[in-house]
Amino acid sequence: MAGSGAGARVPAKARRRAEALREQLHDHNYRYYVLDEPSIPDAEYDRLMQALRELEAEHRELVTPDSPTQRVGASPATSFAEVSHAVPMQSLDNAFSIDELREFDRRVRQRLESAGEEVGDAIEYTAEPKLDGAAVSVRYENGMLAWAATRGDGVTGEDVTHNVRTIKAVPLRLSGSDHPAVLEARAEVFMPRAEFERYNAAARERDDRTFVNPRNAAAGSLRQLDPQVTAQRPLDIFFFGLGEVDGWEVPDSQSRMLEQLRTWGLRTCPDHQRVKGPDGCLAYYEALQARRAELDYEIDGVVYKVDSRRWHEVLGSVSRAPRWAIAHKFPAQEEITVLKSVEFQVGRTGALTPVARLEPVFVGGVTVSNATLHNLDEIERLDVRVGDTVVVRRAGDVIPQVVQVVAERRPKGARRIKPPTHCPVCGSDVARPAGEAVARCVGGLYCSAQRKEALRHFASRRAMDIDGLGTRLIEQLVDGEFVKTPADLYDLDQQTLMSLERMGEKSAENLLAALDHSRETTLPRFLFALGIRSVGEATAKALAEHFGDLEPLMAADEEALEEVPDVGPIVAAHVRAFFAEPHNLEVVRALVGKGVRWPSIGSVQASVKSWWSGKRVVITGTLDGLTREEAKDKLERLGAKVTTSVSQKTDLLITGKDAGSKLDKAKELGIRVVEIHELPELNPQIESTS
Ligand code: IVH
Repeated sequence: MAGSGAGARVPAKARRRAEALREQLHDHNYRYYVLDEPSIPDAEYDRLMQALRELEAEHRELVTPDSPTQRVGASPATSFAEVSHAVPMQSLDNAFSIDELREFDRRVRQRLESAGEEVGDAIEYTAEPKLDGAAVSVRYENGMLAWAATRGDGVTGEDVTHNVRTIKAVPLRLSGSDHPAVLEARAEVFMPRAEFERYNAAARERDDRTFVNPRNAAAGSLRQLDPQVTAQRPLDIFFFGLGEVDGWEVPDSQSRMLEQLRTWGLRTCPDHQRVKGPDGCLAYYEALQARRAELDYEIDGVVYKVDSRRWHEVLGSVSRAPRWAIAHKFPAQEEITVLKSVEFQVGRTGALTPVARLEPVFVGGVTVSNATLHNLDEIERLDVRVGDTVVVRRAGDVIPQVVQVVAERRPKGARRIKPPTHCPVCGSDVARPAGEAVARCVGGLYCSAQRKEALRHFASRRAMDIDGLGTRLIEQLVDGEFVKTPADLYDLDQQTLMSLERMGEKSAENLLAALDHSRETTLPRFLFALGIRSVGEATAKALAEHFGDLEPLMAADEEALEEVPDVGPIVAAHVRAFFAEPHNLEVVRALVGKGVRWPSIGSVQASVKSWWSGKRVVITGTLDGLTREEAKDKLERLGAKVTTSVSQKTDLLITGKDAGSKLDKAKELGIRVVEIHELPELNPQIESTS
């Protein structure tokens, strides 16, 4: 029982409070990780956790092993203890083709029939994603987490309890009731794809080691001696099977067994499905393959398991794999090929990105002949040379990358890659400040490559959202010297546009309309569109909210800039440098001169009025942290007229989450649409100065 070890000195009230907090946190964890239906915001969860921490710090006797505060143990281990698996952790046979899958189904049927089983028309299978992570066995005794171990050789694994405890999706005690005396649940620990990308990007930024793929990330994190390190790794888990079990009448079907695991709080993959016969298996395989890129976890195929667990016993195992399951693999996401050369591409801020030109190779469903090498440090870290055989990885919609060199295949005479001394596009010098991984062309907007990228960024959806101004068009506009800076875009006319390749009268008209439309923007979008180094959307918004308008921001020194939440010395220096550059000031003023405008955030009464007053506004969708009435009230105080239906007369549609038909109508009528979070004046945290 929670709290049963507490001494008499602990006041009953504190004990009850600690128990209640633990219960609440446990319940929220279950909702968040298993049901995927969080019922409170993260901030509230953090507050509950903090309250429990404080209480436990005050009364050490209140700390229980299953307390959510006890995920990270105190000290690093010196080695891993061995764990023997009472029920071996088997591996799976593979099928690489449809024929092999049909063959598997035929074998299963034959065996069952010769054992006298009534098989029927089609065998039922549970089809599950084959997760690409690291296998673990997690043991619960009477509902409490006892230990967790890696697969090892299948018979003996390593005790990684200290690390598995740090994974928030692993319950320290089971939910629900009627827990078996012993429940060993088999699972895959993995690093969600988005987290993997984020982790690697951050590691690259601080010149740290990157992971080759999410599987290595998961396996490497589990094998850390210091749980503090593992706790920093964004790991997740899906349970899919059983090891030793005592005191539980396991349901006869794999899918019902998974359901029961879930009610005990063990997270299962939501994408499994019961299917009939090989045709059902194939339909599932194809559907999952089509969704592969959008799944947040990495998979390398599908596992089909005979659904009846009784039949598992009838079928048995061969060597180390069961006869009742098979893994149907997807085409590989990693392949090897030869690096033919390296070219450097120039980005918006002049950063030179090394691009590997490869011997074409089929990987992740497409033929890849170019892959990124990220930056110069990455080239050094991989020690990659022209002529090398390299591992190329293409997962989902992520750009293909060179992740490894196959060292033993290095040919004689493989050439080292020299950092460029001059920009390959404009010939300007290349600078690489000490300690930086990135080399940059110093040409600035003199460099046509940088100009093109700056314009692309300026026009992009999350910046000025200029519909129809695509890459090809920008190339022509820059190469033909029609446009040098973003401000020049607003001087384009029908005639100039129609002189361009593949530009008809209608497209030219549409583009001019889109340009005109883009003039009315928001300050965060405008700041983001300027492409100031290290100013992403979030920073642009923070700057806009803090300074209220452009002039005070342009005048701010680094000290003033650092007062903005999340703006440190580096961002402050970049912002300052941007506005200190006369050319940039000129562009900004030219843009404003050409009618680019936004509602001011600062002095609501003075300047905002000029923008909002008389505007007809419609609100739609669910607003976060604000009722419809509050939003209406704020808008009206700013001088806007809030109406309920979208018509030709509407000036602006403000959208929250799940906007529906009004959004469609507004788009149809070409009415400007702004998401509510883009309007700091409607942000509940900001006091309007009225
Ligand atoms: S069942 C005896 N189900 O694949 C059954 N395994 O190649 C073996 N894996 O070690 C496990 N996703 O780490 C099963 N849905 C899934 C799986 C899965 C990934 C891994 C697991 C196992 C390996 C076998």
